[in-house]
Amino acid sequence: MKKTFKILAAVLALVMVLAAFAACGSTENEPAQTEAQKETLVMATNAEFPPYEYHEGDAIVGIDAEIAQLIADKLGMELKIEDVAFDSIIPGVQSGKYDMGMAGMTVTDERLETVNFSTSYATGVQAVIVKEDSAIKSVDDIKADGSMKIGVQTSTTGDIYASDTVENGGFGEANVVKYDNGALAVQALVSGKVDCVIIDNEPAKSYVAANEGLKVLETEYVSEDYAICFAKTNTELQQKVDGALKELIADGSVQKVIDKYIKAD
Ligand code: ARG
Repeated sequence: MKKTFKILAAVLALVMVLAAFAACGSTENEPAQTEAQKETLVMATNAEFPPYEYHEGDAIVGIDAEIAQLIADKLGMELKIEDVAFDSIIPGVQSGKYDMGMAGMTVTDERLETVNFSTSYATGVQAVIVKEDSAIKSVDDIKADGSMKIGVQTSTTGDIYASDTVENGGFGEANVVKYDNGALAVQALVSGKVDCVIIDNEPAKSYVAANEGLKVLETEYVSEDYAICFAKTNTELQQKVDGALKELIADGSVQKVIDKYIKAD
């Protein structure tokens, strides 16, 4: 009787140890396994474009980063954001290096020849940043002068408009100074290397708020639609992302993110 009890106790102890191991294994390994199984969604952006994408410590935050996270969550995917030069987003998306490009990117006919775009989730207008005491009061003043230097971010719509010929409404390529990102263009304005910067209105407001002595001039440029770009061959992912984005627009989530970053003035 005593012996049987001992054996029983030993077996019971063994069972408990095994159970503890199994429990331990499942709690520790299960989430890790699910994470690993999640497909990654690689988004290319250029994080010098507040409030759409910018650095906050080590993280890339902003409207695009948050909407992309909501899309990834909906699709059960793991979002990975790559911060690259704006003009390497489209080539990288085309070659399959990145799954999508999301960078406050305007849908243009020219870009549509190389990539596909999602539904538009936001809009922007090109604005002009000048020094507070600048003689420039409007785009016409820049045109009338004819020799002013205009800072832009390479390959953006601001660059495209500004670099166009005077006959086509631009300022001529010779007057345009191209920078790798908006922050560098604004620095050049602050230090007097350029007379103005042409950039989308919301980043313009952010830069003016962050730098003393600057102001934004409203322009009459047309409103641009921002959308996510995909390789023309990647229609499957495009449809999935677009489906998720449409739901997030319909249920107000996208507007909520925009309102968090852009306060009505
Ligand atoms: N909307 C403009 C364009 O598409 C500027 C976008 C710049 N975006 C950025 N993340 N730096 O050309």
